[in-house]
Amino acid sequence: MLTQTDKAQDLAKRFGGWQDGEFAPGGTTVSRIAEEYGTPFYLYHGDMIVDRVRRVRNALGGDVEVTYSVKANPNLAVCQLIARERLTGAEVASSGELVVTRAAGFDPQDIVFAGPAKTDEELGMAVEEGIFAVNVESLNEIDRLAATAKQQGRRIGVGLRINPAAQLMGSQMRMGGTVGQFGLDEADLAEAVERTLSHPDYLTLRGIHVYTATQVFDADALLEHCRNIFELALQTADLAGRPLQMVDFGGGFGVPYFEKMEDFDLERFGLGYQELLARYRTDPRLEGCRFVFELGRYLVADAGVYVTRVVDVKDMKGKTFVTTDGGMNHHLTATGNMGQVFRKAYPILNLSRMGGEPGEPVAVAGPCCTPLDMFGTNIPIGEPRPGDLVGVFYSGAYGFSASNLGFLSHPNPAEVLIWKGEPHLLRPIGKPEDVLAGQKALL
Ligand SMILES: Cc1ncc(COP(=O)(O)O)c(C=O)c1O
Repeated sequence: MLTQTDKAQDLAKRFGGWQDGEFAPGGTTVSRIAEEYGTPFYLYHGDMIVDRVRRVRNALGGDVEVTYSVKANPNLAVCQLIARERLTGAEVASSGELVVTRAAGFDPQDIVFAGPAKTDEELGMAVEEGIFAVNVESLNEIDRLAATAKQQGRRIGVGLRINPAAQLMGSQMRMGGTVGQFGLDEADLAEAVERTLSHPDYLTLRGIHVYTATQVFDADALLEHCRNIFELALQTADLAGRPLQMVDFGGGFGVPYFEKMEDFDLERFGLGYQELLARYRTDPRLEGCRFVFELGRYLVADAGVYVTRVVDVKDMKGKTFVTTDGGMNHHLTATGNMGQVFRKAYPILNLSRMGGEPGEPVAVAGPCCTPLDMFGTNIPIGEPRPGDLVGVFYSGAYGFSASNLGFLSHPNPAEVLIWKGEPHLLRPIGKPEDVLAGQKALL
């Protein structure tokens, strides 16, 4: 089983390895990037993103569509790299994500819009852009979408997001539905189909969408989940009395951020899925249907590293604390405060002292005034000194945009992409004055 340091070193190698003991991504050194653009920064690797998209597509087979779940990383250049991989669409969850995907070059017919509480303006934008499907989360939303389409005199595709009775939870399948704001209860499927068909001039029933879990590592449980979704799709087609045009299986492929986690077995899942697909696709109820997976973190997490500089090193009662110029304010997820609270560390390296002895484990903390701002309390990162650069790996997903950037009013981090062997600045580092941007003084 790989240690966290092994994992970080493997990822560092894929970024370009190291030179003279220093991390050297894309033909330069991390200290040169830091000098030029400032710290902290997110560093993404374009080829790693493209490789990952292709690997997923190959594993699932050419007839399956992979869509990118933009919430994982809505950076424009990242979206552009994915958009240019033909056959890859996008799943958006807000009007802002829709704007990014259109700017990145995704075809509207390859875009689906899911998520609770879509406002009338957002539904209006989806109709205007002519996206493939709005995946509705309630019976009410079906009528609101029809009213919006009517107002514009246009048609729009509908995907019914189903909260199924048989749930995939993390790595397991469980019977018995959960309750929540996501999706339509499976028990309401017949009514949802009927409501959609009751607006024949404005709504086109595309099919179904099921997304119930993230961080899934059990390929067999996920296959069982997919088999259920195929059955649900056939049931939906029967209710509608016509073939479906879309079955969106969600995805949730896991990323092994923490100790004792192994890679998701993509090839095993892909083979199993292709067998399932061969069994179901010949059914006339799925004739011409698009089979879609929507993946976020699995496409981009490994292609990002968050780089922050050591400001201070101090010992207290035998424990070493290393404080850095960025923390939970820039990377909430890696400090264990996003979604679920955890106290486990991502793979982390001292990028300025690569290849040396791991040294005594230290605590690595960010600059925010709360004990929650901690990347880990037992991290072997050599002999860290002020000025060293620390890298938090697996940071390509749920980083910049998933963080509480305004907390403590530190400037925002930069975003840099290695592409065609060179670093490109995607977003410059913030300035202290940015804290005033957009505010009106009272006096
Ligand atoms: C509807 C939907 N699709 C896809 C995703 C992406 O999940 P992941 O990043 O685990 O692939 C999410 C994540 O919250 C989601 O809500």
